[in-house]
Amino acid sequence: MHILVLGKNGQLGQSFHHLAQNEQSWQWKFAEKKILDLNHPHFREQLLSFKFDILINCAAYTAVDKAETEIDTAYQSNSIAVRHMAEVCLDRNALLIHFSTDYVYHNSLREPLLESSLTLPEGIYAKSKLEGENQILASGCKYLIFRTSWVISPYGNNFVKTMLRLAETNSILKIVSDQIGTPTLAVDLAAAVIQIIKLYQQNPSNFADYGIYNYSNTGEVSWNDLATEIFKLSNLKVEVIPISTAEYKAPASRPQYSVLSTEKIRKTFGIAIPHWKDALQRCLNQLSLN
Ligand SMILES: NC(=O)c1ccc[n+]([C@@H]2O[C@H](COP(=O)([O-])OP(=O)(O)OC[C@H]3O[C@@H](n4cnc5c(N)ncnc54)[C@H](OP(=O)(O)O)[C@@H]3O)[C@@H](O)[C@H]2O)c1
Repeated sequence: MHILVLGKNGQLGQSFHHLAQNEQSWQWKFAEKKILDLNHPHFREQLLSFKFDILINCAAYTAVDKAETEIDTAYQSNSIAVRHMAEVCLDRNALLIHFSTDYVYHNSLREPLLESSLTLPEGIYAKSKLEGENQILASGCKYLIFRTSWVISPYGNNFVKTMLRLAETNSILKIVSDQIGTPTLAVDLAAAVIQIIKLYQQNPSNFADYGIYNYSNTGEVSWNDLATEIFKLSNLKVEVIPISTAEYKAPASRPQYSVLSTEKIRKTFGIAIPHWKDALQRCLNQLSLN
């Protein structure tokens, strides 16, 4: 089986790359932006030149605040390029594995979000991601979409690495305390996807569990408490002062309560999901080795 992964250098792309070493019965190919650019006018033709039975799309425009001014680029990457992927997958009867975000919900529910919960995305990034999902659904291809949240990893840019960097030069940090969510360790999500691919591979023509699935680690936490936990586990003396979302003044709106229910993925595929504190500890362990 041939698997093509887009977004080789991102958090999730690098996590798949790491795990691919243990899955050598599959032919993996990883493409980075300079090989396959989502915004290239001939993206579709370029994609067609690759052989794959499964396309894992880890590439995306992920700059949530910058998207407010780079609207065309965000939609091109997160929606139009995704439509091309879905149509190519349909033509080839390939499986498209795609990632989306908790930001597509942004409703006012104060309970864990179900895949069937109302989607009310605010901001260009969130809207472009939902439009990408809708392109996949409209295409008729075989798909698995994983909506995830607060991705952390030893790779790329993320909250954990930002906190550790800021701690080098600050003894007091003001962190938003009124947004609640759940971190997702990228390698845990990638491992869950690989487990699901194995179920699919057993009998692709009988596989019936296509659809949208939430995935994050379990539990819930505010950014403020997450920062406190990062410093505690890293033995760093930083005073964390709670501030409100309004005080932080980010250009793009963020949901206040964005905890994903992971019941569907756990029940459908028998996936065991670690708690975010366990995931954070493993992320920090990995960072300390780098
Ligand atoms: N990060 C989060 O907290 C979070 C939360 C919810 C959902 N998600 C979703 O999860 C998925 C993976 O996120 P991530 O955290 O792994 O993202 P990431 O670390 O920002 O990686 C994104 C990847 O996309 C690539 N990319 C960007 N523009 C591209 C283009 N025009 N052509 C080709 N490649 C391009 C980047 O390449 P370069 O490195 O070369 O720029 C990078 O490798 C995305 O779908 C994202 O929307 C992320």
